[in-house]
Amino acid sequence: MSKLRIGIIGTGGIAHAHLNSYKNVPEVEVVAGADIVPGKAEEFFKRNNMPNAKGFNSKEEMFDNVKLDAVSVCTYNSTHSECAVFALENGLHVLCEKPMSVTLEQSIAMRKAEVKSGKILSIGFQPRYDANWRKIQEIITSGALGKIYYVQTGGGRRSGMPGGNFINKKTAGAGCLADIGCYSLDFAMHSIGYPKPLTVSATAFDYFGKAEFGDAFEVDDFAAAFVRLEGGITLDFRMSWKMNMDTTGDFIFLGTEAGLKIKQPNLNLWGGAWDGPVGEIRLMHDVFGKPTETLIPLEENYGPGLFEKKINAFIDAIINKKPAPIPTSQIVYNQAIIDGIQRSNKLGKEVDVVIEEI
Ligand SMILES: NC(=O)c1ccc[n+]([C@@H]2O[C@H](COP(=O)([O-])OP(=O)(O)OC[C@H]3O[C@@H](n4cnc5c(N)ncnc54)[C@H](O)[C@@H]3O)[C@@H](O)[C@H]2O)c1
Repeated sequence: MSKLRIGIIGTGGIAHAHLNSYKNVPEVEVVAGADIVPGKAEEFFKRNNMPNAKGFNSKEEMFDNVKLDAVSVCTYNSTHSECAVFALENGLHVLCEKPMSVTLEQSIAMRKAEVKSGKILSIGFQPRYDANWRKIQEIITSGALGKIYYVQTGGGRRSGMPGGNFINKKTAGAGCLADIGCYSLDFAMHSIGYPKPLTVSATAFDYFGKAEFGDAFEVDDFAAAFVRLEGGITLDFRMSWKMNMDTTGDFIFLGTEAGLKIKQPNLNLWGGAWDGPVGEIRLMHDVFGKPTETLIPLEENYGPGLFEKKINAFIDAIINKKPAPIPTSQIVYNQAIIDGIQRSNKLGKEVDVVIEEI
C-alpha cells in the first residue's frame, strides 16, 4: 500500500507535535503544509529538515498543487471550521485541533460537511488516551456510581495565561473557556455518555487578562457555568487561566450508589485544566451502612505519548475504515456548551441550548 499523504494547515506551535507524531507512523508521509503568514509553511519544513515537503501560503494553493489523503487542521480556533469544511469538501479526512470551533454554527457546518463527504473528522482531545481517564470512564460506565445526577469540573490554572492568538477575540473566539475549558467539558461529558445540553447559566471575567495585557486582552480568563443536561444531570463547570486560588476544586461525580473524586497531581501545573495527568481517584460509598472511601490504584501510561496515540488512532481509522475516534456527534455538544456560556454571560441570564439535528 502506498503511504497516506498528509497536509498540515496552520504551521504554528502545535503543528510540530502533529508533524513529529506523523513521523513515527510508517504508513504516512507529511508532504505539504499551508499557513496564511507568507513563507511560514516553507520555513516550517526547512527547520524540520524536510526538503521534499512543500510549503504554501494558503490551503487553496496547497490543494491545487498537491494530492493529499488527509490533513491536520492546526490553525487558531476561529479558522478551524473554514479549514475543516474546505478539506472535507475536497474529499480529505481531517484531524482538527481542539476546541472544535468558536461557535455552535461553525461546528454544525463542520458536522454537516463531514456527513456529506463520508470522510472522517476527528477532534484533537488527546487526554482521552490517558490511562487514568480511561479507568475513570470504566468505573462510571460499569454502573458502580448508580444514577449520576451531578458532575463538577475542577482544576483550572492558578497562573497560566497564554498570549498572542489565544487572547485575541478574532482568532481565539474565547479565552480559557475555549482553550482549556473544552478539555474539562470533554472529560465530564464523555464520562457520562455526552448527554445533550439543555440550558446554560454562566458568567465570565477578564480581570487578570486586562491587568496584564490591557485592551489587547479580548477574551475571558475565568468562566463558571451551571448546565442542565438531558437525563436530569447537572454540570457545574469552572475554568481559569489565572486566579488567586490553587484550584477551583476537585473533579467530582455524584451518583446514587457512590461518588467519585478526582484530584490533580500538582495544583500549580499548567495542565490544571485536566489536560494533564490524574493525581488521585477516590471512590466514596457506603459499606454495610458505613461511609467508606476506596483509593483506586493509579494506572501507568504505557507506549507512545498521548499526542501520538491521538494521531495513531486517526490513521488507524482511515486505514481500517473505522469511525472517527473522537466523533463530532459528541463534540458538537461540547461546543454547544461553550457557545451557551458565551451567550449567557453576554445576556446576563440563563439561555436555552438548541442544537440542529444532523
Ligand atoms: N491538543 C493540544 O495539546 C494543543 C496544544 C496547543 C494548541 N492546540 C490548539 O491548536 C491550535 C493552534 O494553536 P497554536 O499554539 O499552534 O497556535 P499558533 O498561533 O502558533 O499557530 C496557528 C497558525 O495557524 C495559522 N493560520 C490561521 N488561520 C489559517 C488559515 N485559514 N489557513 C492557514 N493557516 C492559518 C496562523 O498563521 C498560525 O501560524 C489552537 O486551536 C489550539 O487550541 C492544541
